[in-house]
Amino acid sequence: MAIVNKVGVVGLGAMGAGIAQLCVEAGVKTVGRELSLELGERAKGRIEHFLTRKVEKGRLDEAARDAAVDRLSLTTDLDELADCDLVIEAIVEELEPKRQLFATLERVCPPRAVLATNTSALSVTEIAAATSTPERVVGMHFFNPAPLMPLVEIVRAELTGDDAFDTAFAFGERLGKTPVGCHDTPGFVVNRVLIPLLNDCLRVLDEARITPEDLDTALRAGAGWPMGPCELVDLVGIDVHVDASEALYAKLREPRMAPPPRLVAMKNAGLLGRKSGRGFFTYDPPSE
Ligand code: 3HC
Repeated sequence: MAIVNKVGVVGLGAMGAGIAQLCVEAGVKTVGRELSLELGERAKGRIEHFLTRKVEKGRLDEAARDAAVDRLSLTTDLDELADCDLVIEAIVEELEPKRQLFATLERVCPPRAVLATNTSALSVTEIAAATSTPERVVGMHFFNPAPLMPLVEIVRAELTGDDAFDTAFAFGERLGKTPVGCHDTPGFVVNRVLIPLLNDCLRVLDEARITPEDLDTALRAGAGWPMGPCELVDLVGIDVHVDASEALYAKLREPRMAPPPRLVAMKNAGLLGRKSGRGFFTYDPPSE
Protein backbone atom coordinates (compact mmCIF):
# COMPACT_ATOMS: atom_id res chain seq x y z
CA MET A 1 0.00 0.00 0.00
CA ALA A 2 1.39 3.42 -0.99
CA ILE A 3 2.20 6.00 1.69
CA VAL A 4 0.38 9.20 0.83
CA ASN A 5 2.36 12.33 1.67
CA LYS A 6 1.12 14.55 -1.10
CA VAL A 7 -2.14 14.58 -3.06
CA GLY A 8 -3.08 16.21 -6.33
CA VAL A 9 -6.68 17.21 -7.00
CA VAL A 10 -7.45 17.95 -10.64
CA GLY A 11 -10.50 20.17 -11.10
CA LEU A 12 -11.57 22.46 -8.25
CA GLY A 13 -15.29 22.78 -8.91
CA ALA A 14 -17.75 22.00 -6.11
CA MET A 15 -16.55 18.41 -5.74
CA GLY A 16 -12.82 18.97 -6.27
CA ALA A 17 -12.74 21.92 -3.86
CA GLY A 18 -14.57 19.85 -1.26
CA ILE A 19 -12.10 16.98 -1.71
CA ALA A 20 -9.12 19.37 -1.49
CA GLN A 21 -10.62 20.82 1.71
CA LEU A 22 -10.82 17.34 3.23
CA CYS A 23 -7.20 16.61 2.31
CA VAL A 24 -5.75 19.79 3.81
CA GLU A 25 -7.89 19.40 6.93
CA ALA A 26 -6.48 15.88 7.31
CA GLY A 27 -2.95 17.37 7.30
CA VAL A 28 -1.98 16.31 3.78
CA LYS A 29 -0.09 18.63 1.43
CA THR A 30 -2.33 19.16 -1.57
CA VAL A 31 -1.83 20.67 -4.98
CA GLY A 32 -4.99 21.74 -6.74
CA ARG A 33 -4.99 22.09 -10.49
CA GLU A 34 -7.44 24.31 -12.35
CA LEU A 35 -7.50 25.63 -15.90
CA SER A 36 -6.76 29.17 -14.74
CA LEU A 37 -5.29 30.56 -11.52
CA GLU A 38 -8.40 32.69 -11.15
CA LEU A 39 -10.59 29.56 -10.96
CA GLY A 40 -8.11 28.04 -8.51
CA GLU A 41 -8.17 31.13 -6.30
CA ARG A 42 -11.95 31.12 -6.33
CA ALA A 43 -11.99 27.53 -5.09
CA LYS A 44 -9.38 28.33 -2.44
CA GLY A 45 -11.59 31.22 -1.31
CA ARG A 46 -14.54 28.84 -0.89
CA ILE A 47 -12.40 26.47 1.16
CA GLU A 48 -11.24 29.34 3.38
CA HIS A 49 -14.84 30.44 3.79
CA PHE A 50 -16.02 27.03 5.00
CA LEU A 51 -13.02 26.62 7.32
CA THR A 52 -13.63 30.10 8.75
CA ARG A 53 -17.26 29.14 9.44
CA LYS A 54 -15.89 26.22 11.45
CA VAL A 55 -13.67 28.60 13.42
CA GLU A 56 -16.68 30.86 14.07
CA LYS A 57 -18.63 27.89 15.37
CA GLY A 58 -15.76 26.80 17.65
CA ARG A 59 -15.07 23.57 15.73
CA LEU A 60 -11.60 24.55 14.54
CA ASP A 61 -8.99 26.90 15.93
CA GLU A 62 -7.56 29.71 13.85
CA ALA A 63 -4.05 28.29 13.74
CA ALA A 64 -5.39 24.97 12.41
CA ARG A 65 -7.39 26.81 9.76
CA ASP A 66 -4.34 28.81 8.64
CA ALA A 67 -2.19 25.67 8.55
CA ALA A 68 -4.84 23.86 6.48
CA VAL A 69 -5.08 26.73 3.98
CA ASP A 70 -1.26 26.84 3.73
CA ARG A 71 -1.18 23.16 2.78
CA LEU A 72 -3.05 23.93 -0.45
CA SER A 73 -1.01 25.10 -3.41
CA LEU A 74 -2.50 25.93 -6.78
CA THR A 75 -1.29 25.29 -10.29
CA THR A 76 -2.50 25.26 -13.88
CA ASP A 77 0.30 22.88 -14.87
CA LEU A 78 -0.20 19.11 -14.66
CA ASP A 79 3.60 18.66 -14.50
CA GLU A 80 3.43 20.00 -10.95
CA LEU A 81 1.73 16.78 -9.88
CA ALA A 82 5.05 14.98 -10.48
CA ASP A 83 5.69 14.29 -6.78
CA CYS A 84 2.15 13.29 -5.79
CA ASP A 85 1.48 9.86 -4.28
CA LEU A 86 -2.24 10.04 -5.06
CA VAL A 87 -4.10 12.12 -7.64
CA ILE A 88 -7.87 12.52 -7.45
CA GLU A 89 -9.55 13.66 -10.65
CA ALA A 90 -12.75 15.76 -10.41
CA ILE A 91 -13.00 17.40 -13.84
CA VAL A 92 -15.95 17.61 -16.21
CA GLU A 93 -18.09 14.45 -16.21
CA GLU A 94 -17.26 13.37 -19.78
CA LEU A 95 -15.38 10.27 -20.79
CA GLU A 96 -12.95 11.64 -23.40
CA PRO A 97 -11.52 14.51 -21.32
CA LYS A 98 -11.07 12.11 -18.42
CA ARG A 99 -9.33 9.52 -20.59
CA GLN A 100 -6.99 12.16 -21.99
CA LEU A 101 -6.23 13.41 -18.49
CA PHE A 102 -5.40 9.92 -17.19
CA ALA A 103 -3.09 9.28 -20.14
CA THR A 104 -1.24 12.50 -19.19
CA LEU A 105 -1.25 11.70 -15.46
CA GLU A 106 0.31 8.31 -16.18
CA ARG A 107 3.18 10.07 -17.92
CA VAL A 108 3.62 12.87 -15.38
CA CYS A 109 3.18 11.05 -12.06
CA PRO A 110 5.69 8.64 -10.55
CA PRO A 111 4.98 4.91 -11.07
CA ARG A 112 4.08 4.54 -7.36
CA ALA A 113 1.25 7.09 -7.62
CA VAL A 114 -2.33 5.90 -7.39
CA LEU A 115 -4.66 7.59 -9.88
CA ALA A 116 -8.25 7.99 -8.69
CA THR A 117 -11.36 9.29 -10.43
CA ASN A 118 -14.32 10.88 -8.68
CA THR A 119 -16.61 9.98 -11.60
CA SER A 120 -20.20 9.45 -10.51
CA ALA A 121 -21.64 7.57 -13.46
CA LEU A 122 -18.91 6.80 -15.99
CA SER A 123 -16.98 3.54 -16.16
CA VAL A 124 -13.73 3.57 -14.17
CA THR A 125 -12.58 0.67 -16.35
CA GLU A 126 -12.96 2.75 -19.53
CA ILE A 127 -11.04 5.62 -17.95
CA ALA A 128 -8.29 3.25 -16.76
CA ALA A 129 -8.04 1.74 -20.26
CA ALA A 130 -6.57 5.03 -21.51
CA THR A 131 -3.42 4.18 -19.53
CA SER A 132 -0.94 1.34 -19.85
CA THR A 133 -0.99 0.87 -16.06
CA PRO A 134 -4.69 0.30 -15.28
CA GLU A 135 -3.73 -1.53 -12.08
CA ARG A 136 -3.09 1.83 -10.41
CA VAL A 137 -6.43 3.38 -11.41
CA VAL A 138 -9.33 3.26 -8.94
CA GLY A 139 -12.61 5.11 -8.30
CA MET A 140 -13.00 7.36 -5.26
CA HIS A 141 -16.55 8.62 -5.47
CA PHE A 142 -17.41 11.35 -2.98
CA PHE A 143 -20.87 12.79 -2.34
CA ASN A 144 -22.00 16.39 -2.49
CA PRO A 145 -21.18 18.33 -0.35
CA ALA A 146 -17.96 16.33 0.01
CA PRO A 147 -16.86 17.84 3.35
CA LEU A 148 -20.20 16.91 4.95
CA MET A 149 -21.27 13.60 3.43
CA PRO A 150 -19.60 10.66 5.21
CA LEU A 151 -19.54 8.13 2.34
CA VAL A 152 -16.82 7.54 -0.22
CA GLU A 153 -17.29 4.64 -2.63
CA ILE A 154 -13.99 2.94 -3.45
CA VAL A 155 -14.53 1.48 -6.90
CA ARG A 156 -12.57 -1.51 -8.14
CA ALA A 157 -12.34 -1.46 -11.96
CA GLU A 158 -11.66 -4.64 -13.94
CA LEU A 159 -7.87 -4.27 -13.68
CA THR A 160 -7.49 -2.27 -10.45
CA GLY A 161 -4.69 -3.76 -8.34
CA ASP A 162 -5.05 -4.53 -4.63
CA ASP A 163 -2.41 -1.95 -3.82
CA ALA A 164 -4.32 0.92 -5.45
CA PHE A 165 -7.62 -0.24 -3.96
CA ASP A 166 -6.16 -0.53 -0.44
CA THR A 167 -4.39 2.83 -0.73
CA ALA A 168 -7.62 4.58 -1.77
CA PHE A 169 -9.62 2.82 0.95
CA ALA A 170 -7.12 3.74 3.67
CA PHE A 171 -6.92 7.31 2.39
CA GLY A 172 -10.73 7.59 2.57
CA GLU A 173 -10.52 6.54 6.23
CA ARG A 174 -7.73 9.07 6.82
CA LEU A 175 -10.05 11.79 5.53
CA GLY A 176 -12.55 10.76 8.20
CA LYS A 177 -14.90 9.19 5.67
CA THR A 178 -16.77 5.90 5.71
CA PRO A 179 -15.39 4.03 2.69
CA VAL A 180 -17.44 1.27 1.06
CA GLY A 181 -15.73 -0.90 -1.55
CA CYS A 182 -17.62 -1.99 -4.66
CA HIS A 183 -17.10 -3.13 -8.22
CA ASP A 184 -17.26 -0.90 -11.29
CA THR A 185 -20.91 -1.25 -12.31
CA PRO A 186 -23.04 1.63 -13.70
CA GLY A 187 -23.82 4.08 -10.87
CA PHE A 188 -21.83 1.95 -8.39
CA VAL A 189 -23.99 1.63 -5.25
CA VAL A 190 -25.68 4.91 -4.33
CA ASN A 191 -26.31 6.49 -7.73
CA ARG A 192 -27.67 3.17 -9.05
CA VAL A 193 -30.45 3.65 -6.49
CA LEU A 194 -30.59 7.43 -6.06
CA ILE A 195 -30.72 8.54 -9.70
CA PRO A 196 -33.84 6.60 -10.71
CA LEU A 197 -35.41 7.49 -7.37
CA LEU A 198 -34.84 11.22 -7.93
CA ASN A 199 -36.14 10.87 -11.49
CA ASP A 200 -39.30 9.23 -10.12
CA CYS A 201 -39.68 12.08 -7.63
CA LEU A 202 -39.41 14.66 -10.40
CA ARG A 203 -41.95 12.86 -12.61
CA VAL A 204 -44.36 12.97 -9.67
CA LEU A 205 -44.20 16.77 -9.83
CA ASP A 206 -46.21 16.74 -13.04
CA GLU A 207 -48.24 13.59 -12.39
CA ALA A 208 -49.51 14.71 -8.98
CA ARG A 209 -49.63 18.37 -10.02
CA ILE A 210 -47.82 19.62 -6.94
CA THR A 211 -45.24 22.33 -6.40
CA PRO A 212 -41.52 21.68 -5.83
CA GLU A 213 -42.00 23.07 -2.30
CA ASP A 214 -44.75 20.53 -1.56
CA LEU A 215 -42.83 17.65 -3.10
CA ASP A 216 -39.83 18.51 -0.91
CA THR A 217 -42.02 18.83 2.17
CA ALA A 218 -43.61 15.44 1.41
CA LEU A 219 -40.31 13.58 1.14
CA ARG A 220 -38.83 15.30 4.19
CA ALA A 221 -41.90 14.86 6.37
CA GLY A 222 -43.06 11.50 5.02
CA ALA A 223 -39.84 9.66 4.29
CA GLY A 224 -37.36 11.34 6.64
CA TRP A 225 -35.15 12.74 3.86
CA PRO A 226 -32.74 15.40 5.16
CA MET A 227 -33.39 17.45 2.04
CA GLY A 228 -36.26 17.35 -0.47
CA PRO A 229 -35.57 16.00 -3.99
CA CYS A 230 -35.84 19.40 -5.70
CA GLU A 231 -33.49 21.02 -3.21
CA LEU A 232 -31.13 18.06 -3.61
CA VAL A 233 -31.06 18.19 -7.42
CA ASP A 234 -30.44 21.95 -7.16
CA LEU A 235 -27.50 21.18 -4.86
CA VAL A 236 -26.05 18.43 -7.07
CA GLY A 237 -26.56 20.55 -10.22
CA ILE A 238 -29.33 20.00 -12.79
CA ASP A 239 -26.69 19.47 -15.49
CA VAL A 240 -24.75 16.96 -13.38
CA HIS A 241 -27.92 15.01 -12.62
CA VAL A 242 -29.11 15.00 -16.25
CA ASP A 243 -25.69 13.87 -17.50
CA ALA A 244 -25.46 11.12 -14.88
CA SER A 245 -29.00 9.96 -15.76
CA GLU A 246 -28.10 9.86 -19.46
CA ALA A 247 -24.94 7.88 -18.72
CA LEU A 248 -26.83 5.30 -16.64
CA TYR A 249 -29.65 5.10 -19.18
CA ALA A 250 -27.13 4.44 -21.95
CA LYS A 251 -25.59 1.61 -19.94
CA LEU A 252 -28.66 0.01 -18.36
CA ARG A 253 -31.51 0.86 -20.77
CA GLU A 254 -33.96 1.17 -17.89
CA PRO A 255 -36.62 3.84 -18.58
CA ARG A 256 -36.46 5.09 -14.98
CA MET A 257 -32.82 6.08 -15.52
CA ALA A 258 -33.69 8.47 -18.38
CA PRO A 259 -33.81 12.12 -17.24
CA PRO A 260 -37.34 13.58 -17.12
CA PRO A 261 -37.84 15.99 -20.08
CA ARG A 262 -38.66 18.80 -17.64
CA LEU A 263 -35.16 18.47 -16.19
CA VAL A 264 -33.51 18.37 -19.62
CA ALA A 265 -35.35 21.58 -20.53
CA MET A 266 -34.09 23.21 -17.33
CA LYS A 267 -30.53 22.20 -18.17
CA ASN A 268 -30.86 23.60 -21.70
CA ALA A 269 -32.24 26.88 -20.32
CA GLY A 270 -29.26 27.27 -17.98
CA LEU A 271 -31.29 26.63 -14.82
CA LEU A 272 -28.57 24.57 -13.18
CA GLY A 273 -29.53 24.92 -9.52
CA ARG A 274 -27.48 26.58 -6.80
CA LYS A 275 -24.42 27.17 -8.92
CA SER A 276 -26.31 29.27 -11.49
CA GLY A 277 -28.49 30.97 -8.87
CA ARG A 278 -31.68 29.34 -10.15
CA GLY A 279 -33.08 25.84 -10.52
CA PHE A 280 -36.28 24.66 -8.88
CA PHE A 281 -35.64 27.44 -6.39
CA THR A 282 -33.77 30.72 -6.57
CA TYR A 283 -30.62 31.42 -4.60
CA ASP A 284 -29.54 34.89 -3.63
CA PRO A 285 -26.70 35.54 -3.89
CA PRO A 286 -25.82 32.68 -6.25
CA SER A 287 -23.64 30.21 -4.32
CA GLU A 288 -20.37 29.13 -5.92
N1 3HC B 1 -18.47 22.56 1.58
C1 3HC B 1 -17.99 22.71 2.81
N2 3HC B 1 -18.75 23.03 3.86
C2 3HC B 1 -20.06 23.23 3.63
C3 3HC B 1 -20.63 23.07 2.36
C4 3HC B 1 -19.77 22.72 1.31
N3 3HC B 1 -20.21 22.56 0.06
N4 3HC B 1 -21.93 23.34 2.45
C5 3HC B 1 -22.19 23.66 3.72
N5 3HC B 1 -21.05 23.59 4.44
C6 3HC B 1 -20.86 23.87 5.84
C7 3HC B 1 -21.36 25.26 6.10
O1 3HC B 1 -20.36 26.01 6.78
C8 3HC B 1 -22.57 25.02 6.97
O2 3HC B 1 -22.69 25.91 8.04
P1 3HC B 1 -23.20 27.44 7.85
O3 3HC B 1 -24.42 27.40 6.97
O4 3HC B 1 -23.50 27.84 9.23
O5 3HC B 1 -22.06 28.18 7.24
C9 3HC B 1 -22.32 23.66 7.58
O6 3HC B 1 -21.61 22.95 6.60
C10 3HC B 1 -23.56 22.93 7.94
O7 3HC B 1 -24.47 23.05 6.91
P2 3HC B 1 -26.00 22.90 7.23
O8 3HC B 1 -26.43 23.65 8.43
O9 3HC B 1 -26.70 23.17 5.96
O10 3HC B 1 -26.04 21.37 7.66
P3 3HC B 1 -27.26 20.42 7.72
O11 3HC B 1 -27.30 19.84 9.06
O12 3HC B 1 -28.48 21.09 7.21
O13 3HC B 1 -26.84 19.26 6.68
C11 3HC B 1 -26.45 18.26 4.60
C12 3HC B 1 -26.50 19.57 5.37
C13 3HC B 1 -25.42 17.33 5.18
C14 3HC B 1 -26.04 18.65 3.17
C15 3HC B 1 -27.85 17.58 4.65
O14 3HC B 1 -28.82 18.48 4.25
C16 3HC B 1 -27.90 16.36 3.79
O15 3HC B 1 -27.49 15.29 4.16
N6 3HC B 1 -28.47 16.51 2.55
C17 3HC B 1 -28.51 15.44 1.59
C18 3HC B 1 -27.30 15.56 0.70
C19 3HC B 1 -27.16 14.39 -0.23
O16 3HC B 1 -27.98 13.49 -0.31
N7 3HC B 1 -26.06 14.40 -0.99
C20 3HC B 1 -25.77 13.38 -1.96
C21 3HC B 1 -26.13 13.89 -3.30
S1 3HC B 1 -25.87 12.68 -4.54
C22 3HC B 1 -24.26 12.85 -4.96
O17 3HC B 1 -23.54 13.67 -4.47
C23 3HC B 1 -23.75 11.90 -5.99
C24 3HC B 1 -23.01 12.61 -7.08
O18 3HC B 1 -22.43 11.61 -7.87
C25 3HC B 1 -23.91 13.48 -7.94
